[in-house]
Amino acid sequence: MASHIAFYVCLIFFSVLHLASTLTDSDNYIIHMDLSAMPKAFSDHHSWYLATLASVLDNSELSSTTATSSSTSKLIYSYTHVMKGFAASLSPSELEALKSSPGYLSSFRDLPVKADTTHSPQFLGLNSNAGAWPMSNYGQDVIIGVIDTGIWPESKSFNDDGMPEIPLRWKGECDGGAQFNSSLCNKKLIGARFFNKGLIAKNPNVTKTISNSTRDTDGHGTHTSSTATGNHVEGASFFGYAPGTARGTAPRARVAMYKALWDEGGIVSDIIAAIDQACTDGVDVISISLGLDGVPLYEDPIAIATFAAMEKGIFVSTSSGNRGPFNATLHNGVPWVLTVAAGTLDRHFGGIVTLGNGASVKGSSLYPGNSSSNQTAIVFMGACDNLKELMKIGKKIVLCQDKNGSLSDQLYNVNQANVAAGVFITSITDLEFYIQSTFPAIVLNPKNGETVKDYIKINSQPKAKLEFQDDSSYQTGTKFLASWPPNVPVAVVDSQPLFSNFNLLSGTSMSCPHAAGVAALIKAVHPEWSPAAIWSAMMTTSDIMDNTYGPIKDIARGDIPASPLAMGAGHINPNKAINPGLIYDAKSEEYVNLLCALNFSREQIRTITQSASYNCSTSSLDLNYPSFIAFFNANVSNLDSKTTQEFHRTVTNVGQGKSTYVASVTPMKGVQVSVMPDKLVFKEKNENQGFKLSIEGPRRLTDLVVFGFLSWVDTAGKHVVRSPIVATRISSDLLPHS
Ligand SMILES: *[C@@H]1O[C@H](CO)[C@@H](O)[C@H](O)[C@H]1NC(C)=O
Ligand SMILES: *[C@@H]1O[C@H](CO)[C@@H](O)[C@H](O)[C@H]1NC(C)=O
Ligand SMILES: *[C@@H]1O[C@H](CO)[C@@H](O)[C@H](O)[C@H]1NC(C)=O
Ligand SMILES: *[C@@H]1O[C@H](CO)[C@@H](O)[C@H](O)[C@H]1NC(C)=O
Ligand SMILES: *[C@@H]1O[C@H](CO)[C@@H](O)[C@H](O)[C@H]1NC(C)=O
Ligand SMILES: *[C@@H]1O[C@H](CO)[C@@H](O)[C@H](O)[C@H]1NC(C)=O
Ligand SMILES: *[C@@H]1O[C@H](CO)[C@@H](O)[C@H](O)[C@H]1NC(C)=O
Ligand SMILES: *[C@@H]1O[C@H](CO)[C@@H](O)[C@H](O)[C@H]1NC(C)=O
Ligand SMILES: *[C@@H]1O[C@H](CO)[C@@H](O)[C@H](O)[C@H]1NC(C)=O
Ligand SMILES: *[C@@H]1O[C@H](CO)[C@@H](O)[C@H](O)[C@H]1NC(C)=O
Repeated sequence: MASHIAFYVCLIFFSVLHLASTLTDSDNYIIHMDLSAMPKAFSDHHSWYLATLASVLDNSELSSTTATSSSTSKLIYSYTHVMKGFAASLSPSELEALKSSPGYLSSFRDLPVKADTTHSPQFLGLNSNAGAWPMSNYGQDVIIGVIDTGIWPESKSFNDDGMPEIPLRWKGECDGGAQFNSSLCNKKLIGARFFNKGLIAKNPNVTKTISNSTRDTDGHGTHTSSTATGNHVEGASFFGYAPGTARGTAPRARVAMYKALWDEGGIVSDIIAAIDQACTDGVDVISISLGLDGVPLYEDPIAIATFAAMEKGIFVSTSSGNRGPFNATLHNGVPWVLTVAAGTLDRHFGGIVTLGNGASVKGSSLYPGNSSSNQTAIVFMGACDNLKELMKIGKKIVLCQDKNGSLSDQLYNVNQANVAAGVFITSITDLEFYIQSTFPAIVLNPKNGETVKDYIKINSQPKAKLEFQDDSSYQTGTKFLASWPPNVPVAVVDSQPLFSNFNLLSGTSMSCPHAAGVAALIKAVHPEWSPAAIWSAMMTTSDIMDNTYGPIKDIARGDIPASPLAMGAGHINPNKAINPGLIYDAKSEEYVNLLCALNFSREQIRTITQSASYNCSTSSLDLNYPSFIAFFNANVSNLDSKTTQEFHRTVTNVGQGKSTYVASVTPMKGVQVSVMPDKLVFKEKNENQGFKLSIEGPRRLTDLVVFGFLSWVDTAGKHVVRSPIVATRISSDLLPHS
C-alpha cells in the first residue's frame, strides 16, 4: 500500500516537471533595470540586457552562442529614453531567475490596451484673423507624435501644401512596409513607424494576419491625427452632415504616426516602445488616446513612460477614458500629463419631416442615406412595442412615441419591421447614441412630435416626406468630423457598408488630440515653456461658461452646473491660453516630492522616475498645480470641530513686465477660503510670487462636494488666471471599486 502511494506521488511529480519544460507558458514582462549596476565591460545597455537575459534562460546549459541567439529572440524591446529596461518573453522560472540578477529593479506583466472610442476648430474660437492661429502661425514646425492605429497617408488632411522644409532637428523616419511606401511621407506627415513585436510575442498566432506597416486599417489613428494637425480640406462632410472645411487644431504642425494599436489588439510593451521612439525622434508633443483602468501609478505604463518625456520637455496629452459619468472612472490621472475629457459642441445633425399639408418640423438624424423624394403614408403606432403589428405595416413611415425611455427598443423594432422609415418622439436630449441609424429615421422633441401627431389625427390619408443632412439649426453633440481611411466602412445602410473620407466619432479619444493641437499652438508661440507651463496656460484660461453664457452643465446629473470633478478646469480656450498672464510652473523634483508625500515606496518612485539620485527630504503634497482639492472626510460625529488645509503655490508672470493681480474667490458652502497675500505685485516679466490658499471647514463636510474658483485678476483688465477649488467628503471607501 505504502509503495503504491509513493509511486503515485512520483508520477505526479514527473508530470509537473514535464509540463514546465514543454508547455510554452511564457508571458511578456517589462523589466526595470538599474543602469548604475551595469558592468563596465558592456558597451551599451542593449548588450547588457541581452547578456542578463542569456544568463537566466531555461536552456542556459546550452552553448553560449545558442544562449545568446535565444536571448535575442526572447528580448522584445530594449528601451532607451522613457525607461531603463527592456521587454522580454519569459517563463515563470526565467522571471524568477531574473529577479536575482544584478541590476534587476522591478517588473510587471505586459497588459492589453485599447483605444478610448465609443466641427470643432471654430467652436474652440480659432480663426484666421486673430488669436492663437495667426500668432502661432498655425502651430508651424511643432511636431506632434501620435500613438494610435496608424494613418492613411493619402488623406487630404495630410497633404503638405504650403509646408516649409522639415526642421533639421527631426530624427524620425518613415518606415516602409506592406502597402506603405516610405515615399508616402511628406512635409506634413514626417514620420511613420509601427510597433507589433510585443503583440506577436504574446500571441504568436497573430503572425498570419498582422500587417507590417503604419497604414491605418481601423480609422481611429487617421481621425485623431487629422484632428490634431490636419491641413485644410475643403468640401468635407459625413454624407452631407457637418459640411465645411476640415482642418486640425494646429493645421501647420507636423505629424509623426507611431502605430501600436492593431486590429489584433494592443499591448503595453508596444505602447512603451512607441513613446520611447517618439522621444528619440524629437517630437514636441505626444497624443495618446488610450489608457489602462485600475492600475496604480507605479505600474501604469503611461505614467512610467511619460515621466521621462516630461523631463525632456515633451508635452503629453492623454484621454481620460469613456467610462464616465460615474465616480472614479477616469484614467491617465497622471500629474505630469494633460488628461482630457470630452465636452459637447454646438453642432446639430438634423433631419426635417415635411407633412402632406406643407408644414414641416425639425429633428435630429445622422442617417447617412438620401432624402426621400416623395410623400409616403405615415401611421402613428404609439410606443412601437408590438413587433407583430409593426411587421404588418409595409412601406409606410411609422411614428413612435417614447413614453418611458424605450427609444432604443423602438429603433430596434422599427428596423426589424422593414417599414419605409421611422419618426420617433422623445424627451431624451442626449441623442448622439441613437441617431446614427441604418434606416431612414428622424427623432423629434415632444413639441414637434405633437405637430405630427395632430396632423395624423385629423387627416384621413396622412403623408410625410423625410429629409436628411439638415444643418440649419443647432443643438449640442459630441461627435467630431475628421479624416478616415476610404476603405474602412463608416456606416451600414440596407446591409451595405458605406465608405467616406471623413467620419464622425465621439469619445475622449477625439478630445485628446484637440488638446495636443492646442499645446502645439502654445509651443509655437512659447518654445521655451515647460509642459507644466503649457497645461497651466490651458487650465487657467479655460471657459467655465458655455455658449449660452450659463455655467457648463452636467448632462449626467440633470443639467446641474458641472463641478470640477465633472468638467475639470473647464472648456479649453486656445486664444486665451496663448497669453495667460501668469503660469503655475513645476520642475520634475516637485513630482518626486509629491510621490514621496503620497507614501510610495522608494522602489515604486524609482520605477517611475528612473533615478536613484533623489531623496524624500523635501516630501510635499504642494505640487505647483493650478487646482486645489481638500478632503474633509474624517470619521467624526462632532461636525462643529474645524480644521484648516493649506496649499502653497508660486505663479510666474509671463505677461507684460509690471503688473498687479488681485485674488478673487467665489464663496463655497460650508467652508471658508482665504488667500495670503491677496495681491501680487510684479515688477518684471518672469518674476515669481508665492501665495498660500487656506480652506477652513468642518472635519467632516455636510455636502458631498462643494466647489468654487480662485481667480487672480489683472488690475489692467487683461488677464483672469482661474483655478478650480473643490472641498469634498468623498473618500475612497465611498467610491465604487472596479
Ligand atoms: C515607392 O515609391 C517610389 C517613388 O514613388 C517608387 O519608385 C518605388 O518603386 C515604390 N516602391 C514600392 C515598393 O512600391
Ligand atoms: C490568438 O490566441 C489568443 C490567445 O493566446 C486568442 O485570444 C486569440 O483569439 C487568437 N487569435 C486568433 C486570430 O486566432
Ligand atoms: C510581419 O512581420 C512578422 C515578423 O516581424 C512576421 O512574423 C509576420 O508574419 C509578418 N506579417 C505578415 C502578414 O507577413
Ligand atoms: C458618486 O459617489 C457619491 C458618493 O458615494 C454618490 O452619492 C453619487 O451618486 C455618485 N455619483 C455617481 C454618478 O455615481
Ligand atoms: C444617394 O444618392 C446618390 C446619388 O443619387 C447615390 O450615389 C447613393 O448611392 C445614394 N445613397 C444611398 C445610401 O442610397
Ligand atoms: C416615390 O415615387 C416613385 C415614382 O413616382 C416610386 O417609384 C417610389 O417607390 C416612391 N417612393 C416611395 C418611398 O414611396
Ligand atoms: C417605466 O419604467 C420604469 C422603470 O424601468 C417601470 O418601473 C415602469 O413600470 C415603466 N412604466 C411604464 C408605463 O411602462
Ligand atoms: C503618509 O504617511 C504618513 C505617516 O504615516 C501619514 O501621516 C500621512 O497621512 C500619509 N500620507 C498619505 C497621503 O497617505
Ligand atoms: C537629499 O537631497 C538634497 C538635495 O539634493 C541634499 O541637499 C540632501 O543632503 C540629501 N539628503 C540626504 C539625507 O541624502
Ligand atoms: C466610523 O467610526 C465608527 C465609530 O467610531 C465606526 O463604527 C465606523 O466603522 C467608522 N467608519 C469608517 C468608514 O471608518
